[in-house]
Amino acid sequence: MNPSMIPASREDAAALDATDPLQAYHDHFDLPEGVVYLDGNSLGPPPRASLNKLRDTAEREWKDQLIASWNDAGWIDLPKKCGAKIASLIGAAPDDVLVCDSVSVNIFKLVSALYLARKAVSEPCAIAYETDEFPTDGYILQGLAKLTGTSLKKIASNGPDAAFADGIKIVVKSVVHYKSAAITDIAAWERAAEKNDAVIVWDLSHATGVIALNMQRVGARYGVGCGYKYLNGGPGAPAFIYVAKKAAEELDQPLSGWMGHAAPFDFADGYLPAPGVKRFACGTPPILSLSALDGALDVFDGIDMHAVEEKAKKLGDLFLARAMALDLTSASPGLDKQRGGHVSLRFGHSYEVVQALIAKGVIGDFRQPDIMRFGFSPLFLTYTQVWDAVDILGNILATEEWRKPEFAIRRTVT
Ligand SMILES: Cc1ncc(COP(=O)(O)O)c(C=O)c1O
Repeated sequence: MNPSMIPASREDAAALDATDPLQAYHDHFDLPEGVVYLDGNSLGPPPRASLNKLRDTAEREWKDQLIASWNDAGWIDLPKKCGAKIASLIGAAPDDVLVCDSVSVNIFKLVSALYLARKAVSEPCAIAYETDEFPTDGYILQGLAKLTGTSLKKIASNGPDAAFADGIKIVVKSVVHYKSAAITDIAAWERAAEKNDAVIVWDLSHATGVIALNMQRVGARYGVGCGYKYLNGGPGAPAFIYVAKKAAEELDQPLSGWMGHAAPFDFADGYLPAPGVKRFACGTPPILSLSALDGALDVFDGIDMHAVEEKAKKLGDLFLARAMALDLTSASPGLDKQRGGHVSLRFGHSYEVVQALIAKGVIGDFRQPDIMRFGFSPLFLTYTQVWDAVDILGNILATEEWRKPEFAIRRTVT
């Protein structure tokens, strides 16, 4: 955002709210009074449609219709139905996304399938992930490397050209970095991967539902992502996996459970993978969680993702510009740079400051070692709320209220 366009007063912020093209989306949410929720990048709040769907699934489909709902209520098709809704947000073909498992498990299935395909033609294949990537991505690859004996490398985050050295053929990488919110140029990385006969599995967790993605257009064939962040699918909502059709047909994933079988209710002896991305299913889908996600995804029906991305950037810019005036250090790309939906600030006592903010109704989170992270989910936040949040932050810093002993108590989830 051009710095001259950033609201210079609360009235300017209110004027932006009055002309906000996404204003109508606020009505989908019932956030608690007095709360400024800057954590929609970690756990999205429940859209009304999600709670209604969940209630209906539990109280009517499950309670009254019992097992018939697998067919009559379409439970068996929910992973594909939700997948098609997510496909429209990431620029994938509707049949190429499946909702299942967690991001961690989906990384395991996808990377091992890609690894096995390489191994089958005896090509050497090192796997890599980026230094400072979200830890679970690395943990999963460490486990896979142990299991297969393949070489696992870390790559520095300094662009795609150097990333495919040393026989690296599979890279796992986030599109939006979980700490900084820096956005990766997917097309440039895909071009570099192609030149080196390598592939990339994109972690779309911090990108889906907040930036405009077009996986097909940029030649990206593999991805995974969260359902519980900007998609607002609920705590522990199932994740998704994206595999472009032609690519999926060439892959066998090792968690070959019955739901990934071509005909699970044949109860046949041998495993025959289902066509396309459906082969990445494993066990019985969690219908209550899927229903909550299904309802949440309806909010995105027909949405303009460019407008969503633009508002997220403008909210983040407003926050960042005013936070810089408080003499805080940014750990995120600046106003003139591309950035995902969150902003991270560095401060020696970030944990305590975040707790003091939460006590005043401004909810963000803390990430080791010194990051306070704030998410700007555009569907329910206003510019005025962001303005007020920085005022509260400034007050906490000026009065050193964060020094109160209760704010130093470390909780399990930060
Ligand atoms: C970038 C990224 N990848 C993966 C995960 C974890 O996903 P899951 O818990 O579904 O395995 C997160 C969670 O915050 C994340 O931010």
